[in-house]
Amino acid sequence: MRILFAASEVYPFSKTGGLADVAGALPEALAGLGHHVLVVTPWYRTLRADPAPLWVGDEWVPYDGGIAICGVGHLSRRGVDYAFVSHEMFQREQLYGFDDDAARFQLFSRAVPQAAAKLGFHPDVVHANDWHTGYVPMVLEHGWHLPEGFPKLPSVFTIHNVQYQGGSDLDAALYRLRLPGALRDSALNAHGRANAMQGALGFAHRVTTVSPTYAQEIQRPEYGYGLDGALRQVSYKLSGILNGIDTEVWNPATDPALPERYDAADPSGGKGAAKLALARRFGLDPARPLMGVVSRLADQKGIDILVAALPGLVAQGWAVFVLGDGDRELAGAIQHYGNHYRGAVGSYIGYDEGLAHLVYAAADTLAIPSRFEPCGLTQMIAMRYGALPVARATGGLVDTIRHDATGFLFAHATPEGLLWASGVARGAYNAKGHWRWMMEEAMHQDFSWGASAAAYLRLYQEMTGHHD
Ligand code: ADP
Ligand code: GLC
Repeated sequence: MRILFAASEVYPFSKTGGLADVAGALPEALAGLGHHVLVVTPWYRTLRADPAPLWVGDEWVPYDGGIAICGVGHLSRRGVDYAFVSHEMFQREQLYGFDDDAARFQLFSRAVPQAAAKLGFHPDVVHANDWHTGYVPMVLEHGWHLPEGFPKLPSVFTIHNVQYQGGSDLDAALYRLRLPGALRDSALNAHGRANAMQGALGFAHRVTTVSPTYAQEIQRPEYGYGLDGALRQVSYKLSGILNGIDTEVWNPATDPALPERYDAADPSGGKGAAKLALARRFGLDPARPLMGVVSRLADQKGIDILVAALPGLVAQGWAVFVLGDGDRELAGAIQHYGNHYRGAVGSYIGYDEGLAHLVYAAADTLAIPSRFEPCGLTQMIAMRYGALPVARATGGLVDTIRHDATGFLFAHATPEGLLWASGVARGAYNAKGHWRWMMEEAMHQDFSWGASAAAYLRLYQEMTGHHD
C-alpha cells in the first residue's frame, strides 16, 4: 500500500510536541510492515536534517486565487521517504505562533498533493494530522487543479489535540485554498468562520484520535472545545488508536544521553547515576525520591495544579524537577519555588531533548496532572525508564497506566487530587519490594508501534479495499 502522511512537524526534523514523535515513528513502523510511505512536511528554517534534503525542484501550488511557487526537497531515512515543502512563509525562527498561521498551513495543505506528485508518488490513501493539515481532506474532495490521481482519494484525519482547531476568515480560507465558494455551507463553516479541524471531521473518510478514551471524551462538552456536537455527528467514522513510542530513541539500555545505561533486570545502578548527575547539575538533594516533570507549560498539562501542590509535595518528602517550556507565568512560579525550596525543587525552563532523557532516567515518578490528554507520550517513556507516572485519569493516561501496578492515577484535576496520588506513591516507594515490582512491571510494558501501526493499516485497508 502507498500511504501519504502529512504533518506540520516530524521528528527528528522539527518538533514542538508529541505530534512530531508520532509523525516520525508511525511512518517508520508502517514501512517496516512493507508499505511505501511518503511523509510531507514543511521545510522550516530550523529544520534539523543531516544530510540536508536534496532539492528536487519548484512546484506550482494552486493558492490564493492563483499559484504560489514552492520548492520541494527529498530525503529517504530508515525506509521512509520525506518531501519537504519550502516557501518563504516557513523561513521563521519558530514553527507556529504567527498571525498568518492559517494562511501558512493553507498553503502547506495545498502543497501536499503537489509535492507528492513532484516525487512521482501516487498514494492509495492520505493521512492528515491536526488542524494544520486539516484542509487536506476537503482539498482532495473539492480542490481545483489537483494532480492526476488525487481527486477524491480516501483520507484519514487524526486528532492529536482538539483544543487547537485553526480558526480563520471563511471567505479568505476558501480563496486561498482555491475551493469553490459553495463550501461556505459545509463542515468548514463554524459559526461563519473557517474551522480547519471541523472541516476535516466533515470531509475525511475516517477520523481517528490517539487513544480510545479520548475518542469518547471529546464527544462530550467538557472535552470537545465546541466540537463535541460535530464529533458526535461523525461518531460512525471515529475511532481511537493508541500511540506508541519510538523504542529505539527511548531505550535506557542503549541511551547515549545517560551516564550509565540500564535495563529492567537491574535498573538501580543506572537510575542512581542519572539521579546523581541531575542532582549535581541542579543542586537537588539526591537522598529524596525524585518526581520529574517533562512537559509543555500549558493549561492542558495542569502545570498550575502542580505549582499549587509544590509545597505539599516537598512536605511529602519529594524532590521535584521540572523540565518545561511555554507559559512565562508558570515558569516564573516554578522558579520562585526553586529559590524557596533549595535542594527540593529545581527546574530547567526551555526545550532540551538530552536533558529530557536524563530526567526520565533519574526520576522515581513522573507527574502528569493533565486536564485532558489525547494520548500522552511522556507516561510511556517514563515507564520504560522505570519512572512511575503519577497522572490524572484522563484520555490516553487511563489507557496506558494501571493504578498501583504501573503508576498512580487520580480522578480530579486539583492539587488535592495530585497530592493524594503522590501520597500513595510515597507509601509505595517506602515499601521497597512493592516498588521494585511496580518498576519492573512498568518497564516490561510493550509501548512499541507494532500494534498501533497494524491498527492503522487495517483502517487503510478497510477504506481502500487494498489488501496488499
Ligand atoms: P504534547 O504533545 O501534548 O506536548 P506528549 O506527551 O504527547 O505531549 O509529547 C511530549 C513530547 O515532548 C515528549 O517526547 C516529551 O519528552 C517532549 N517534551 C516536552 N517538553 C519538553 C521539554 N521542555 N524539553 C524536551 N522535551 C520535551
Ligand atoms: C498531542 C497531545 C498528546 C499526544 C500527542 C501525539 O500533542 O497533546 O496527548 O500524545 O499529540 O498524538
